[in-house]
Amino acid sequence: MKDWKELIADLLAKEVPEITKEEILALIETPQDSKLGDYAFPCFRLAKVLRKAPPMIAAGIAEKINASGAEELALFDKIECVNAYVNFFLSRGAYAAEVIGEAVQSGKEFGRSDLGQGKTVIVEYSSPNIAKPFHIGHIRSTVIGNSIYKIYDALGYNVIRINHLGDYGTQFGKMIVAFRRWGSEEDVKREPIKSLLSYYVKFHEEAEKDPALEDEARATFTKLENGEPEEQRLWQWFREESLKEFTRVYDMLGITFDSYAGESFYSDKMGRVLDIMKDKGILEESQGAQIVDLSAYDMAPALITKSDGSTLYITRDIAAALYRKENYNFDKNIYVVASQQNLHFQQWFKVVELMGFDWSKECVHIPFGLVSLEEGTMSTRHGRVVFLEDVLKRAVEKTREIIIEKNVNTDNIDVTAKQVGIGAVVFQELSAARIKDYVFSWNKVLNFDGETGPYVQYTHARAASVLRKAGFDAAAEKQNGTLLSGADFSKVTGDSAMELIRLIYKYPAVVKEAGEKYEPSVITRHIVDMAQCFNKFYHDEHIIVEDEAEKKAKLLLTYAAKETIASGLGLLGIEAPERM
Ligand code: ARG
Repeated sequence: MKDWKELIADLLAKEVPEITKEEILALIETPQDSKLGDYAFPCFRLAKVLRKAPPMIAAGIAEKINASGAEELALFDKIECVNAYVNFFLSRGAYAAEVIGEAVQSGKEFGRSDLGQGKTVIVEYSSPNIAKPFHIGHIRSTVIGNSIYKIYDALGYNVIRINHLGDYGTQFGKMIVAFRRWGSEEDVKREPIKSLLSYYVKFHEEAEKDPALEDEARATFTKLENGEPEEQRLWQWFREESLKEFTRVYDMLGITFDSYAGESFYSDKMGRVLDIMKDKGILEESQGAQIVDLSAYDMAPALITKSDGSTLYITRDIAAALYRKENYNFDKNIYVVASQQNLHFQQWFKVVELMGFDWSKECVHIPFGLVSLEEGTMSTRHGRVVFLEDVLKRAVEKTREIIIEKNVNTDNIDVTAKQVGIGAVVFQELSAARIKDYVFSWNKVLNFDGETGPYVQYTHARAASVLRKAGFDAAAEKQNGTLLSGADFSKVTGDSAMELIRLIYKYPAVVKEAGEKYEPSVITRHIVDMAQCFNKFYHDEHIIVEDEAEKKAKLLLTYAAKETIASGLGLLGIEAPERM
C-alpha cells in the first residue's frame, strides 16, 4: 500500500532541502476539517531557517511542487497554500482505488505484517489460582492477554502463551488442613471449586478464633514441599479439578495456551537462583529470612526465602524468568497482571538485573485496573465472588432472550447467542484503556446500539447481508481473477465513503500502535469508528445501484470494511457472525 504521508514528504523534501525528510514527516498533519485537505504541511518552523514569513514560504513550496511535473501529482486533486500551510487534497478516486484494492486483495492478511519476523515474545496471562474461584476479576488478564497475543501474532512475532498457574504456596497448606477438617471427598467431586472455596472461607473464620490453625497450615505446606505423598496427592487432585473448571471457561472464550507451567513447576529450580544471588553477593540474612536489599532503588526489600526456608511468590517468578530465557530465548517477556502487583514486578525485575542478567529490560509488566461489580467489591476470603463461568453463561442466556425478542436474524440461535453474548463481555472488557478501573454493567454490555460488541458485530452482519443481497461472492471472484474488474472507484467519493476508506487505510497502523502500546482498546476504538462510519455510508448512499461500475466499487468498499471489522474483532478474540 502506498504510504501517503511518506509520498508527500518526498515531494516536499525536493523543495525544502533545508530540513531533513524525517523532520518533514514529523511536521505533516492531518487536518480535522477536510476543507483544509487530507494532509497539511505547516511552514512556521521553516521561518527561522529561511528568514521569511511562513505564508510566503508556503506559497513558494506549493508553487514549486505544482510546477515540478512529478508523476505523483496525478494522485492529488490539488495542492494549495492557505496561510502558513501547504494543503494536500488527495484525488479521491485514486485514493479509493489504492486502499480498497489493497485491502480486498490482502483479504484476511490485511493488517498483518512481518515486523516481528524471527523474534520470540512470551505473553503470560490469566494465571488464576488453583482451588480458588475463577471469578470475574480474572477476566481482565485473560482477555487482555489473549488480545495482546493475537496482536503480536498478527505483527509476525513467534508468540508463546503461558498460563503461570498459582498452584503453589502456603495457601495450599490451609486448603489441605481445611479439607481434612471440614471437607468431604464427594462434595469436592461433585462441585470442586465451590466446595474447596467454602473450606477455605471456613479456615479463615476459624483461624481468627484459633491461631494454631495457621501453624498447622504452615507445617502442612512444608510437608507438601518435602514431597510427602498424602499432601502431594491432595494437592494434585485439587489442581486437576481446578484446571477442569478453568478449561471450561477458556473453551467458552476460545482461549488456549502453549504452557501451563505454573508456580509449582519451579519449586525444584530454586537452588540455582539462590546460588547466583549468593555469587553476586546480593543475598542478605534478615531475622532468619533471606532478602535482597533494594533501598538504593527506593523499594522495599525483596523477600526471597522465609525463616523456615520456604520460597516465595517472588522467588518463583525469578526462577520462571530464568527458565523462560533459557528455554525460549525471548526477545520480550510480557506479564499481563493487575496494577496491584506493580511493586512486585518492579522489585523482581530489579533483582534479576542485580543478578547480572541484562535481559531484565526485556521483561515487561503490562498492568491493568480493577473490575468491580455494580453490587460492590469481591472478596475471596469472604466468599463474595461472581464466577466468570456464570457471567458468561448469563451473557449467552440474556443474548438469546434479546435475539428472540428483537427477532434477530440467525442461522442457529445457539451459536449466535454464544458468539454475541461472550463477544459482548469481551468487548466491554477491551473498550477502555486497560489501566482504567471499570464497573461491570449488564446494561452496557448487551446494548445493541451503544459502542458495544453487539453493535459492531451487527454492523459486520449488515455488511455481509448487503453483499449476499447483491450476489457478491468475493472468494469466487478471487478465484476467477475478477475481484477488482469493472469497478469505477471515482464513483465512491462521497464524504462518508471517503471517511470509511481513510479508516480502512489506517487499520494496519492501528494494529501496530496497539502492539507498541500493549493496548487492545486502540483496536476496539477503531472498529467502533469503522462501524459507525459504515452505518453512515449505508445510510447516505445506495450501494446496490443500476450503474454496474459504481455498484462494484461500492460492494468492494463494503467488503473491505466488513473484512477489516472482522479482522479487528478477531484480534480482540471476538467472533464475527455473518448473520444477526
Ligand atoms: N496467580 C496470581 C494471582 O492470581 C497472578 C500471577 C501473575 N503472574 C506472575 N508471573 N506473577 O494474583
